[in-house]
Amino acid sequence: MLFSPSGFTECVREWEDLEKNYQQIQDTHRLYKQKLEEVTRLQDSCSGAISRQRKKLRELRLSLEECKENHPTPKLSPEDVDAIAGIESSMNERAHAFSEMEAFLPQKNGLYLKLVLGNVNVTLLNKQSKFAYKDEYEKFKLVLTVILFVFSFTCRFLFSYRALDALFNFLLVWYYCTLTIRESILISNGSRIKGWWVFHHYVSTFLSGVMLTWPEGALYQMFRNQFLTYCLYQSFVQFLQYYYQSGCLYRLRALGERHNMDVTVEGFQSWMWRGLTFLLPFLFFGHFWQLYNGITLFRMFQLPECKEWQVAMCGCSYMVLFMGNFFTTLGVVYQKYMNNQDNKPKSF
Ligand code: COA
Repeated sequence: MLFSPSGFTECVREWEDLEKNYQQIQDTHRLYKQKLEEVTRLQDSCSGAISRQRKKLRELRLSLEECKENHPTPKLSPEDVDAIAGIESSMNERAHAFSEMEAFLPQKNGLYLKLVLGNVNVTLLNKQSKFAYKDEYEKFKLVLTVILFVFSFTCRFLFSYRALDALFNFLLVWYYCTLTIRESILISNGSRIKGWWVFHHYVSTFLSGVMLTWPEGALYQMFRNQFLTYCLYQSFVQFLQYYYQSGCLYRLRALGERHNMDVTVEGFQSWMWRGLTFLLPFLFFGHFWQLYNGITLFRMFQLPECKEWQVAMCGCSYMVLFMGNFFTTLGVVYQKYMNNQDNKPKSF
């Protein structure tokens, strides 16, 4: 319970204590501002040193290339050739090390973030905040997945109103837009999300926007049930993805290190591989459903009564989604399969 002074003398004593405490707060805050300035100076000096090193490395790389091309005119010994190869491989490692360092330094925003947020610094300066932001991103997706599942179920089985469908599509537009912003911030903070997954959310925003403008009519009704059932399935797959992604995130965090560890830690690798092989059939089924949606829409486009431009636009968007999702997922799986093979204990 808080102490509350009674009587004038106690009030004066309490005020004196508060005065002393206030002085301490002022000192701490002064120290804090001083440290902040120090941090800003260190950030500037680090960023400057990195860009100077990068420039010099680029120049050195060109000079080394020239040395190799002029060979054998100024004769290079096999040791020199080996030394050049060694320097080049160290330079590649350094480029990687600089990217890791930059994940903890303020950076200029890319065009999209500049347009949406302006030139505000979005780099989180410690691992805990980065982890918390990523975790929050996954939870945000989960909450919206549940809402979208309920919404699409309601539209599919309970109420069939164009206005309710429009609200559902509007929610989708807002959701995908938000994802693109959050993902751009994650990338600024060192996440290795592949460009396709972000682009896939731009395409999904466009697709939902077009669905929003599709007027009520025979063609809309023809596609409506297929679209809503697909949305239901997508929410279900998104739920499985959440389980896999957050599992990866927590395991990597428990290992204390990220990015460079996932290639070497065997237990994590095998968990991830098992999770992925469970998820894959559901993902590929979803991709082929996107192809099916595309084909359905192109067939509808050929009908004589088809007047709406939305039919072709949605058809093209589904085709783009199918191709991008399918081939990117194949690529990710191949890469992970190779890592998994490399890390398997050898029997000889
Ligand atoms: N959306 C957002 N972020 C993604 C992502 C996606 N679809 N796929 C991967 N990432 C992120 C990861 O969280 C990780 O982030 P981090 O660097 O901050 O830790 C980074 O990208 C690298 O991930 P990677 O190792 O390449 O893949 P993964 O093992 O995390 O996931 C898949 C692999 C195949 C499971 C995942 O890419 C996926 O679910 N793809 C299918 C998406 C899809 O097709 N959706 C439509 C369904 S119908």
